Amino acid sequence: MARLEEINVKLLVTGGAGFIGSVVTRMLLDAGHEVVVLDDLRTGHQVAVAPEATHVVAPLDDVARVVTPEAGFDGVLHFAALIAAGESMVRPELYWHANVVGSLALLEAVRAAGVPKVVFSSTAAVYGNPVELPISESAVTAPTNTYGATKLTVDMALTSAAVGHGLAAVSLRYFNVAGAHLDAPVALGERHDPETHLIPIALDVAAGRREKLQLFGDDYPTVDGTCVRDYIHVTDLARAHLLALDAAVGGRHRIYNLGSGSGFTNRQVVEVVREVTGHPVPVTVAPRRAGDPAELVAAAELAREELGWTPAKPTLHDMVGDAWTFYRHHLLEQA
Ligand SMILES: NC(=O)c1ccc[n+]([C@@H]2O[C@H](COP(=O)([O-])OP(=O)(O)OC[C@H]3O[C@@H](n4cnc5c(N)ncnc54)[C@H](O)[C@@H]3O)[C@@H](O)[C@H]2O)c1
Repeated sequence: MARLEEINVKLLVTGGAGFIGSVVTRMLLDAGHEVVVLDDLRTGHQVAVAPEATHVVAPLDDVARVVTPEAGFDGVLHFAALIAAGESMVRPELYWHANVVGSLALLEAVRAAGVPKVVFSSTAAVYGNPVELPISESAVTAPTNTYGATKLTVDMALTSAAVGHGLAAVSLRYFNVAGAHLDAPVALGERHDPETHLIPIALDVAAGRREKLQLFGDDYPTVDGTCVRDYIHVTDLARAHLLALDAAVGGRHRIYNLGSGSGFTNRQVVEVVREVTGHPVPVTVAPRRAGDPAELVAAAELAREELGWTPAKPTLHDMVGDAWTFYRHHLLEQA
């Protein structure tokens, strides 16, 4: 396949009605590509699906109806998944089905149709409690929750498909994703329900729609006792997907961590939310949650070296600022 900037290609985006998949869909369309979105809207939003994309409202289980040899897909970007780590511990069967059975159906359709490339949304959750920091791609994988286990299983299935069938596969292991894509006909941002991510919850509190923010544990061995996480802007993350599609080589499964390489404690994030919004964010401290590592920070050099990926919006102020703009000017009116 020639470079994406040079030719237009036909791509399937699973989960294109979700936060990250919708941003990537927008960027692919803006680059002139043809996009089919497969998303049954179980957690996604119709308004986030670009009207220029063909939207097939169906579960991954039915993907073989869409990914046929005749359809002529040049690649798949696979975002569709259930993503709440806490829920995955109490309703594991949902996660094994959606994330693993669904992904295996996708890989089977990809094989049968001869689609050459797959880029997969993996996660830092595959590493579990890291043995060393920052976390490189060769770190031990030992997920502490079912969500991470399902993602690691799909990573392994991709390795098999690359070895067995010559698939060009890339897993992008995201750390924490934040911000919004504001430079789009319909602004695209985070709207999970229930929301489990720190920044949108803190914005809810700043806006007065929630009373308080709960921090889970303040006795971790970090500068202020709260957990440390590594954040990247969703538009930077989206750009990495286009680069990964270009870089994917048949018969190889490459894995890249996508993070900034530096971490912020939860309290530092809340302080940035206070600064950006100009509103108070009252906080209460709850006990630690099982399976929450003290610190997750990516060693992010490999994506920079091999994909030529450089985040354009690396600061937390950029990310919180864009998320707040989306929240104030778009989320409420799109709801
Ligand atoms: N948001 C993050 O911070 C983060 C971090 C690491 C990894 N990821 C991964 O990135 C991907 C996208 O995350 P997001 O935040 O955009 O989530 P999201 O919930 O906003 O989007 C997921 C989309 O997939 C769809 N979907 C889920 N299961 C499906 C199925 N079986 N069939 C058809 N459609 C289905 C949902 O309707 C939704 O539109 C996920 O795979 C997630 O594991 C996200």
